[in-house]
Amino acid sequence: MSDTRETAKRIGAEEIERQKQFCAKIRKMNEGRPGGPPLAYTQTYGCQQNVADSQRLMGMLREMGCGFTQDARAADIIVINTCAIRENAEKKVFGVVGQLVHAKEKNPDLTICLCGCMAQQEVVANKIKQSYRHVDLVFGPQALWKFPELLYGVYTEKKRIFSIADEHGSIAEGLPVVRESGVKAWVSIMYGCNNFCSYCIVPYVRGRERSREASDILAEVRGLVEEGYREITLLGQNVNSYGKDLDTPMDFADLLREIDKIPGDYLIRFMTSHPKDAGQKLFETMAACSHVAKQLHLPVQSGCSRVLKAMNRGYTREQYLEKVRMAREAMPEIVLTSDIIIGFPGETEEEAMETVSLIEEVRYDALFTFIYSPRPGTPAAKMPDPASRAEKQVWFDKLLDAQNRISGELHRAYVGRTVRVLVDGESGDEAWPLSSRTHGGRLVHLKGGRELIGRYVEARVTDSNTWALFGEAL
Ligand code: SAH
Ligand code: SF4
Ligand code: F3S
Repeated sequence: MSDTRETAKRIGAEEIERQKQFCAKIRKMNEGRPGGPPLAYTQTYGCQQNVADSQRLMGMLREMGCGFTQDARAADIIVINTCAIRENAEKKVFGVVGQLVHAKEKNPDLTICLCGCMAQQEVVANKIKQSYRHVDLVFGPQALWKFPELLYGVYTEKKRIFSIADEHGSIAEGLPVVRESGVKAWVSIMYGCNNFCSYCIVPYVRGRERSREASDILAEVRGLVEEGYREITLLGQNVNSYGKDLDTPMDFADLLREIDKIPGDYLIRFMTSHPKDAGQKLFETMAACSHVAKQLHLPVQSGCSRVLKAMNRGYTREQYLEKVRMAREAMPEIVLTSDIIIGFPGETEEEAMETVSLIEEVRYDALFTFIYSPRPGTPAAKMPDPASRAEKQVWFDKLLDAQNRISGELHRAYVGRTVRVLVDGESGDEAWPLSSRTHGGRLVHLKGGRELIGRYVEARVTDSNTWALFGEAL
């Protein structure tokens, strides 16, 4: 894909304005409702990108005059934003959507919408069309910006609507948003993925890579900092590809430098960084920018070069380890995390153990670990996969045991230290009522008063376990 500008559709301001008019029309319809404003219930599966998308959907719902409820039974409109990354994620959604048939029987006016990555797949949309007839509206991530128009169609034409055309992806600026807290915010800097890792569904459902203009991103971040947000996470499937499709030459490191110039007391995090495109320039920029957290999520997937090749990851074990070395040289305090897939088709026990040896070598602070799940339509789903699920589980458990030990050891080394943390909310635990994060993103359960939420404080770490640190605000 040499010129993504040609295929990525930038949604014009007039089009967004037109969508706002659909919001206004729906708001008008809602104003006359006898029982007060309709209530919307949203449920989100999958990654932060989906969380960010749901915040836009909620922004549009608010403009339509909806209130929000946490109780699906009280809802007039239900929006389920789905994930297709593993079979389990899809099964869960089919279960939830299946159950909604009863809600619809009780309340025929209930509107049920299914969107996100699952919905973008034709097989899923067809299954919903035929077997889940209580679902009113189905649309993929590419059509998110026209949710108001689609919903208006459902309301006025009294028919089911499916909008899953692969439009190669779109970029829509200026959509309204409802953010979850006043402390942390998500900012998408790009959409889609061009990498086609052989196991992964994302490029098929999220379209080709496309970058937002730097000026739009900078304006959004500046606004968030002015509103008092303390932690802003930049999102993209591979943030290191940022800018490749823009007219003005700018890469991700350049973007970080520009954002870092925005004055204020805040931290910038980002995910995800693809190892093949991460390098010296990025690490030096991270080290030099005071607002950029010294934290790197650098998914390795496997520690075996043969498997990495079959995965189409574009790096070997040695090249990956060299990047880790470079990152640590630039930032000795860096907190490193990763994603791992165990049981890729054709992986042997010996190869899986190469992954265990890699994590022993790197000593990640934490890992996100998955057992391979075949995704129809991807190349890996057609590869021979002789190892049994039970065998894969044994390898997986070995990996977890090793990582739990390493995380436990690294966490224990914090005990007795004083660290600066951002208090981001309540923990739900009476003994340690606050939840907070170190600059490197490690979770610290904290003793202290609610008034600290949203503030950076010095905390003394007094205890730790495999998953978290415990401490008291000073
Ligand atoms: N763009 C990110 C990953 C997004 S998906 C990146 O390249 O790092 C998040 C994680 O889900 C992946 O890193 C991978 O570890 C896992 N994953 C993706 N497809 C999978 C599959 N078919 N089976 C199991 N895990 C998978
Ligand atoms: Fe999937 Fe690979 Fe793209 Fe990540 S980089 S979203 S794993 S295809
Ligand atoms: Fe899932 Fe789509 Fe994210 S498949 S992981 S929600 S990009």
